Amino acid sequence: LIKEKNQIKKLNFIDLVDEIEKKSTQTTLFIIDENIEKNYQLKALLESRLQSNSKRAITWIAKPGEPTKTLNEVERCCEFFLSQQITRQSVVFTIGGGATSDFGGFIASLLLRGLSWNSIPTSLLSMVDAALGGKVGVNSTQAKNLIGAFHSPDQVYLCCDFLKTLPSEERISGNGEILKYCFLDSSISELVLTDQREETILACLNFKKKIVDLDPFEANQRKILNLGHTLGHCLERMYALPHGVAVAWGIFLLLTIENNQSLLKKLKEFALKLDLDLKATPWGSHKLDLKILESLLKMDKKMTSTDEIDLILASDLGEIKIEKRKLDHLMNQLHEFNHDLG
Ligand SMILES: NC(=O)c1ccc[n+]([C@@H]2O[C@H](COP(=O)([O-])OP(=O)(O)OC[C@H]3O[C@@H](n4cnc5c(N)ncnc54)[C@H](O)[C@@H]3O)[C@@H](O)[C@H]2O)c1
Repeated sequence: LIKEKNQIKKLNFIDLVDEIEKKSTQTTLFIIDENIEKNYQLKALLESRLQSNSKRAITWIAKPGEPTKTLNEVERCCEFFLSQQITRQSVVFTIGGGATSDFGGFIASLLLRGLSWNSIPTSLLSMVDAALGGKVGVNSTQAKNLIGAFHSPDQVYLCCDFLKTLPSEERISGNGEILKYCFLDSSISELVLTDQREETILACLNFKKKIVDLDPFEANQRKILNLGHTLGHCLERMYALPHGVAVAWGIFLLLTIENNQSLLKKLKEFALKLDLDLKATPWGSHKLDLKILESLLKMDKKMTSTDEIDLILASDLGEIKIEKRKLDHLMNQLHEFNHDLG
């Protein structure tokens, strides 16, 4: 019997502990972001609730953000849980942003050759993207996310109440991923333009689920979720941008070099609604450093062979195609862009 994965359940904070309890097993493992623990003290709450039902709760507090996504932390966390008599029936819950779900989902994939897990995203970016889909893992010293697995959560609990404590730069980064969905699905763009916040978040998550269910291992259609990411990842590294902000600039650059004026106009409308400032470019009055950009493109794991790249293109809202583009061709387009900067 194959269990359905990536189920979505929307709930309020006051119902969260009840819901977790329903899914808990004799021994339940929690991986909680340190900042979430500081703000919500979930460890004591969950441990006392499960203990009152004669169950065990074991908690790992994860370092906030990228510092948790290392092999060293993976080893420390695995050894900690393995010293606590866990079994193959134990279930894992991650509570935190995308770094926590990437890390915690990877831990779940490794312990006893794979435990079931559930994800409770607390940042906007993880609610609309990272928490669902089963791409889990940690960073290599070569580049981000190169060590990992596909291991989907059973459930993603969408609790927007967590957003109240999210720092505004993290909210804006999440908005960058929402901007991406506006191009993937025109009904999401409508929700954004009409300021329907929670509906937008749920619609993004449902859209991702639809695509991931069709193509769980990113053989084909799932690649559309990378719209803006190829160039975005380069800009993220070059200008130390928050991930979602880099994706927004990646889409801007892509539409500009493809000369898609009508979508550029839409991009500006969406960006305004999403509090994304697309006026001050990250490169300021300079040109793009295309030597660095090219070397970053080559390092990107989406390079399909030595000279081709899978480029995700939008011709209209919801009209997305995946094209193999010669790296030389893309670089020529970027040289032209640089030339036009004056
Ligand atoms: N697996 C995927 O499909 C996928 C997709 C996109 C991104 N990612 C990964 O997700 C990570 C980025 O995710 P992120 O933007 O959520 O970053 P994050 O997990 O690093 O969280 C950002 C910061 O916000 C804090 N935070 C989170 N929720 C909070 C809340 N409710 N209140 C207060 N503080 C809170 C965290 O402690 C952290 O300091 C990256 O590592 C990226 O590679 C994975």
